[in-house]
Amino acid sequence: MQNFRYVGKNLFIEKLSIKNFLKKQKTPFYIYSENQIVTNFLKFKNTFKKTNPLICFAAKSNSNLNILRVLGKLGAGADVVSGGELLKALKAGIKAKKIVFSGVGKTEEELKIAINKNILLINCESESEAKLVNSLAKKLRKKVSIGFRLNPNIDAKTHKNISTGKAENKFGLSIKSFKIFLKKINSLKNINLDALSVHIGSQILNDAPFKKTLNVMSKLIKELRLNLKYVDLGGGFGINYTNKEKPINLNKYSKLVENFSKKLNCKIIFEPGRSIIGNTGLLISKVQFIKKGANKNFIILDAGMNDFMRPALYDAFHQIIPVSKNSAKTKGKIEFVGPICESTCKFGIYKNYQRINENDFIAITNVGAYGSSLSSNYNTRPLIAEILINKNKLRYIRKKQNLLKLISS
Ligand code: LLP
Repeated sequence: MQNFRYVGKNLFIEKLSIKNFLKKQKTPFYIYSENQIVTNFLKFKNTFKKTNPLICFAAKSNSNLNILRVLGKLGAGADVVSGGELLKALKAGIKAKKIVFSGVGKTEEELKIAINKNILLINCESESEAKLVNSLAKKLRKKVSIGFRLNPNIDAKTHKNISTGKAENKFGLSIKSFKIFLKKINSLKNINLDALSVHIGSQILNDAPFKKTLNVMSKLIKELRLNLKYVDLGGGFGINYTNKEKPINLNKYSKLVENFSKKLNCKIIFEPGRSIIGNTGLLISKVQFIKKGANKNFIILDAGMNDFMRPALYDAFHQIIPVSKNSAKTKGKIEFVGPICESTCKFGIYKNYQRINENDFIAITNVGAYGSSLSSNYNTRPLIAEILINKNKLRYIRKKQNLLKLISS
């Protein structure tokens, strides 16, 4: 996270002192570094430069319109999973021919939008979906490019809730079912099978499952003599949430992808989300109250699990750092918790943390991916502000939701 650092005792994001900014900005809020977004995207692009893939940013990881705009300007396409994300990507200026649509349960309404907008690929995940696309395309008098998402039955060795490529997961079609479907595809006159896609999971830190997937795809495409324009290799590239973890190193994998793309003569698509946006954001929160517990003190923040779900959903670790450092220590254990009426509304336990008082401010780190996009109005709490910073210029890319509007229904 090179764009977050301490200058003396104070936390800065790019050239902005959070402490100073807090004189006029109420907590909690998300703040992102634009330069870190650009750096991450260009680094990913550079890793695969010999393959020259289409990089479709996974909009589900952060669907803020301005963030999509920043990435769109850099040449990114979008991987979308709903009609809403599709329309947002277009609104952000991303061309339809750079948009791929994934998801196991696309509705007729969503598919019609995709067909009418002429997006690059609808990545179907079942035979029924492909048939529906065909019949809708026929009605709309179009020929539609589809991809088929395969389930390669590969263990991505990640948290079970974010693993998607094993046979037990609902995603994609097994190779066996795909082969059966392939025999019938010629009767579906309004679709073209232009791509295969895979996405085996998220927050994958080792390249072995990716290499395995590439082998499975390569064998299958050769065996079936498929003539594909694209192979969509999905996302899932992990980042380091702790100091001990290392982000995935994709250099070796990129060479394999380069060979794969040359041999099969097809364009590669990637769908990275977390690796582009994860380390770009902080969630700034205030210590509302401190309460003594039986064997630890509760540090009650004004940010809750509705603002940031990952710890509650996946027991995810996100380092919590002070906005202003001091050299004193708290005795014993403390637990950062939020105000929501759920026991899972908690953000981490620390020992020997620096002295912490009510009205102090902290930052929850690496919240750019699946932070704001997973947030909700649970407990009738408004969605919080999102701010994008470039050097010392800041932009409100989402205003805090209006409470009166929120209580209108
Ligand atoms: N493509 C498809 C089809 C996906 O389902 C996903 C993520 C991605 C790409 C992007 O994966 P990434 O590069 O971001 O790992 N909420 C969870 C993560 C869920 C991921 C869902 N699919 C979390 O906070 O860890």
